[in-house]
Amino acid sequence: MISEGIVTVSYIAAMVLFILALGGLSDQETARRGNWYGVIGMVIALVATILGVVNSHYDILLAALVIGGGIGIVLARRVQMTQMPELVAILHSLVGLAAIAVGYANFMGASHLAGVELTIHDIETYLGVLIGAVTFSGSVIAFGKLSGRIGGKPLTLPGRHLFNLGLLLGAIWFGYEFVVQSAAGGGMQALVVMTVIALLFGMHMVLAIGGADMPVVVSMLNSYSGWAAAATGFMLNNDLLIVVGALVGSSGAILSYIMCRAMNRKFLSVIAGGFGTGGGTPVSGGDELQGEVVAVDAIETALLLSGAKEVMIIPGYGMAVAQAQHTVFEITKVLRARKINVRFGIHPVAGRMPGHMNVLLAEARVPYDIVFEMDEVNEDFPNVDVSVVIGANDIVNPSALDEPDSPIAGMPVLECWKGSMTIVLKRSMATGYAGVQNPLFFKENTRMLFGDAKDSLEAVLKAL
Ligand code: TAP
Repeated sequence: MISEGIVTVSYIAAMVLFILALGGLSDQETARRGNWYGVIGMVIALVATILGVVNSHYDILLAALVIGGGIGIVLARRVQMTQMPELVAILHSLVGLAAIAVGYANFMGASHLAGVELTIHDIETYLGVLIGAVTFSGSVIAFGKLSGRIGGKPLTLPGRHLFNLGLLLGAIWFGYEFVVQSAAGGGMQALVVMTVIALLFGMHMVLAIGGADMPVVVSMLNSYSGWAAAATGFMLNNDLLIVVGALVGSSGAILSYIMCRAMNRKFLSVIAGGFGTGGGTPVSGGDELQGEVVAVDAIETALLLSGAKEVMIIPGYGMAVAQAQHTVFEITKVLRARKINVRFGIHPVAGRMPGHMNVLLAEARVPYDIVFEMDEVNEDFPNVDVSVVIGANDIVNPSALDEPDSPIAGMPVLECWKGSMTIVLKRSMATGYAGVQNPLFFKENTRMLFGDAKDSLEAVLKAL
């Protein structure tokens, strides 16, 4: 056992490291360092907690650490970049589950509290279980949606707002019952009923959100998992957990706000649900084809690129699926050597998780100074000779701007059709995540290069 003082000092060090980690992660160039700060902070936190706070059942703790750590290592090694969002969602659900477990254990364990202290403790327990249960069931459904096990269509029950309101009022009422009964030695029933209500609420909340709005849900659940951890910190009287939970909770909330802004959505309307896929009948006719598309091959693509002065590369989810980022960079190097200005335009919700494209491009060592955010390049498209859309679809869909009934209506998109020529790399005419057809493919100045993005790009590289 180490002394309380050393635990406190270690906790402060871990908190500082976690804050530095967040700071580091905000920029690609410092992200790796930020990650290491986080790892070191977590090791310090774990060691200090195991040696200074835990005082019995070391065998169970060690067994759990080995099993949990083992599963974590296997998952992290096996997961494909394209499955990362699902993994993150399911990991969030574990934070929720832990908060529920701690809440119940805390409630069932012997308590020496009485009066106001007991009431405060009960409220902490109740809120911890409530947030934990919403996080748990919401994250499980989000996992299902992101992995395609559950369809993207929003579940729009008649009277769903009333249903939500009923659940909220139920949770408040049972909270009152819980505190009153707990003072008299009971309360389990109210806690169980509330847990069921919260689980239902979490499921319903995520089921009601359409495919296109999933980015907001992912970041929102990230935030909830932080608040669940903070609530657990209150229950366990653990300052570090409270601070870390608050850091995750508030950074997740800020991310949700950024995602909402990127998609031009109001946070409350997304939470209230019914947004996204299938909400209206898209004028573009869902996934029906409209008109003719012009296909090109790799040689024609190479010729078009060779004749350009300004090239904009727009990566999307398909680049991640095809793992085409390295070939993209090879092509970029060839073009830059020929004095062609190549830039990357990144949409904030491209791919399946925040920063998805940036991570892939960084992995391929694309220099950061040619990678731009949507807002930085959108005005420039009239000066672009060739835009290359690599496995992106929703983020370059003009119907977001001119079809008010479209599920993605209002979302800002990369307006590549304003350039001289757009080449779209994808395997078929299939729709993207939001399930709507894309009028860009049928425009006069669009060419389609069909096939797996990596294969197509390798052929283009060869032709170049
Ligand atoms: P999508 O709209 O999903 O389009 C991806 C396109 O890539 C598909 O149309 C697909 O067409 C193509 N593709 C798939 N595999 C490919 C391969 N191996 N080679 C070539 N092409 C391939 O992607 P996006 O444009 O990046 O937009 C992101 C969407 O995901 C948005 O609707 C966004 O709201 C949603 N979303 C984002 C997030 C975050 S946080 N970024 C989270 C959840 C959901 P084919 O099948 O014809 O090849």
